[in-house]
Amino acid sequence: MGLSKNFLWGGATAANQVEGGYNEGNRGLANVDLLPFGSDRDAVMSGEQKSLSFEDGYYYPAQKGIDMYHRFKEDIALFAEMGFKVYRFSIAWTRIFPKGDEAVPNEEGLAFYEAMIDECLKYGIQPLVTICHFDCPIHLVEKFGGWKNRKMIDYYVRYAETLFTRFKGKVRYWITFNEINMLLHAPFMAAGLVFEPREDREQVKYTAAHYELVASAKAIAIAKQIDPENKIGCMLAAGDNYPNTPNPTDVLAAKMVDRESFFFTDVQVRGYYPAYALKTLSQQNIQLDLTEEDTKCLAAHTVDYLAFSYYSSSVASGDPKVNELREGNLFPTLKNPYLEASEWGWQIDPVGLRVTMNTLYDRYQCPLFIVENGLGAIDEPNEQGIVTDTYRIDYLSQHIKEMMKAVELDGVELLGYTTWGCIDLISASTGEMKKRYGFIYVDANNQGQGSFDRIKKQSFEWYRQVITTNGECLKNS
Ligand code: BG6
Repeated sequence: MGLSKNFLWGGATAANQVEGGYNEGNRGLANVDLLPFGSDRDAVMSGEQKSLSFEDGYYYPAQKGIDMYHRFKEDIALFAEMGFKVYRFSIAWTRIFPKGDEAVPNEEGLAFYEAMIDECLKYGIQPLVTICHFDCPIHLVEKFGGWKNRKMIDYYVRYAETLFTRFKGKVRYWITFNEINMLLHAPFMAAGLVFEPREDREQVKYTAAHYELVASAKAIAIAKQIDPENKIGCMLAAGDNYPNTPNPTDVLAAKMVDRESFFFTDVQVRGYYPAYALKTLSQQNIQLDLTEEDTKCLAAHTVDYLAFSYYSSSVASGDPKVNELREGNLFPTLKNPYLEASEWGWQIDPVGLRVTMNTLYDRYQCPLFIVENGLGAIDEPNEQGIVTDTYRIDYLSQHIKEMMKAVELDGVELLGYTTWGCIDLISASTGEMKKRYGFIYVDANNQGQGSFDRIKKQSFEWYRQVITTNGECLKNS
């Protein structure tokens, strides 16, 4: 019993939330660079407000990130000290193809990531590379409207092929798109979609979704041609929806909301659009630009594993009046009276992780990989500079214990677990630095001021213990 000895423990980050160095190394600009800090961020993320160049009066947190562009060696050494077996990070598309449509990649960008990958391998850490963590070159947004346009498939595939070729033999685990379903909830942040007045938003979102799904399948085909050892995953923002009551209309509503996300993984894992998806789209008069070639490609190139993020479960109701009470940011939900919530209102549900793992494994019978889980909280170093983040230890312990039950008691096949923001980073939804997830504190504030020094939190040693004992130390706690 217990987790396999090859279980991949580690942590995860994304380029635009950590690197900074936005104008170094011939890097181009992307949608994710142009998300401002402050009250306009939501409107920009959702594609309501155009933000295609930097404007005075705004602070753009991705410009500095946590300065990992210059400090990655120090950071990876700290990950190694915790015993990481895997480090999940993303490659910034615009470091490789600054505008997105060049014929030749930017060598400086490739060299940067090669150095990062080599640094991981030096410590025996497997790199797990997210090819696209929300970013889309701004040039492609201006020229083609981002993922509104089929041409994006070719640019993405060229970019992915460049990575598979260059990092052949060094990177084995890949993810094609981070939280692919986020496109429905934050269309500009996740896919570079800006809506024109009177544009049919649902049509645009599902067109973009289809192109990403095809791009993902094409990338898988190429990855396997280049190196059959490559393991390619899809990635879902997951978390089951619970019915608000046992009223059958609530049960049905929860199922329907879940399907908004399964829409993506059903295609990526099974290779075709399920009946409910085609029905729903046609009821909404949404036309999918689905060619015969697309259909064949989706069917032929499914994923090797299903990666997902889990922060919380949600609650759905079939009663529109009750639904008016929904709250939360990117995934609005009803309050669950049985759960407590984080300082940002995200409900905390460790058992929900086990529930979600079982749902996904029952549905697909394909290996899972938890690539994001964690607690965003305010951490304050005390006078000695020590961060006592017992609340984070508690959150992660509870979740890991439920994860282990799903494996040991329920038989779910799980490749690994990477906590989100293993080092403090910029929050995607709010742009704050104050919302911290890490085992490593970064001395910077919401305005990007500070020494950027790294300080180990109490959870650093705790996680080291968890990894050393393959999770067994938690069984007695
Ligand atoms: C996921 C994203 O949605 O959740 C990350 O993949 C993000 O990029 C993480 O940072 C946590 O969300 P937030 O808004 O607290 O940063």
